[in-house]
Amino acid sequence: MTESLSIPRPDDWHLHLRDGAMLQGVLPETTRHFARALVMPNLVPPVVTAADARAYRERIRAVVPEGSDFTPLMTLYLTESTDPADVAAAADEGLIAAVKLYPAGATTNSDSGVRDFAAVRAVLERMAEIGLPLCVHGEVTDPSVDIFDRESVFIDTVLEPLRRATPGLRVVMEHITTSQGVDYVRAGGPNIAATITTHHLILNRNHILAGGIRPHYYCLPVAKRESHRLALREAATSGEARFFLGTDSAPHIDALKEHACGCAGCFTATNTLPILAQVFEDMGALPQLEGFVARHGAAFYRLAQNAGTLTLVRRATPLALPDKILTGAGPVTLFDPGFPLFWHVTP
Ligand code: NCD
Ligand code: ZN
Repeated sequence: MTESLSIPRPDDWHLHLRDGAMLQGVLPETTRHFARALVMPNLVPPVVTAADARAYRERIRAVVPEGSDFTPLMTLYLTESTDPADVAAAADEGLIAAVKLYPAGATTNSDSGVRDFAAVRAVLERMAEIGLPLCVHGEVTDPSVDIFDRESVFIDTVLEPLRRATPGLRVVMEHITTSQGVDYVRAGGPNIAATITTHHLILNRNHILAGGIRPHYYCLPVAKRESHRLALREAATSGEARFFLGTDSAPHIDALKEHACGCAGCFTATNTLPILAQVFEDMGALPQLEGFVARHGAAFYRLAQNAGTLTLVRRATPLALPDKILTGAGPVTLFDPGFPLFWHVTP
């Protein structure tokens, strides 16, 4: 049995850091293990312009813990009034690594998202020209579409037409949750990739709803039935470069999760690597872990792999982690994978 594993320092290609006291409270949970993260722009108000991204990056840098060389990679929130020239200039100066598409109303803080795809055509064309990836929240928002079908309907009715209309556009389908998502990305050629979260490798919809409602397992896209979870585990551990880690670690204070209308989001920054090591071990795929967390994403984003290594050691005693991270904004419950974690990240 493998007892120790050294991998290049990992990246998180989909992370919510929020702002203010929450940012300050959750950032160390990511910088402890990750060298870089792609920071989602769904603040209130969202990060829309290059100037917004520059200011947000400064607020993040200001609270990076002492001694950390963590690099926040910024994204812009695509709106119907986004200026293609502003996006291109931000990409050119290395300020942003991607633009994020939220269909209006699809998830937390997505009210400024896109309703009319014709309105963003010029931005998408410019992005295709310069090779800047579009990160896509792949769910339709039509209330008549069942929430468990929103990803597969999005692929057929939005994503495929959008990619056909914009040849050369590089797309990351974020946090895929279905076998249809896996199949679509596999068939899509070199211009499409997908992130997979930690929690979607663990949860199916029974975990959320059977035997009582578990608000800390509710996220968007919502976890699907078991066959989809198994497809995601197979994809993540396959060694294919088109699949890489985006945790979608999405902190909300407990008061807003444990609520009559609870927020969507699982907070996995703290224990993602120990959980993934266990998943990859269970799948007989530990050698594929480094590709998933440290190489495939950097390659798609055309960035160098991180310098330095991170070592995971399998110990006899399980990790002792707190149930909650106490932030200045309030307590945030850490994702519970439902099994003990024997893989420890060593300093
Ligand atoms: C995210 C959040 O809270 O910002 N929530 C979630 O459930 N994943 C938004 C998102 O990525 O959809
Ligand atoms: Zn997200």
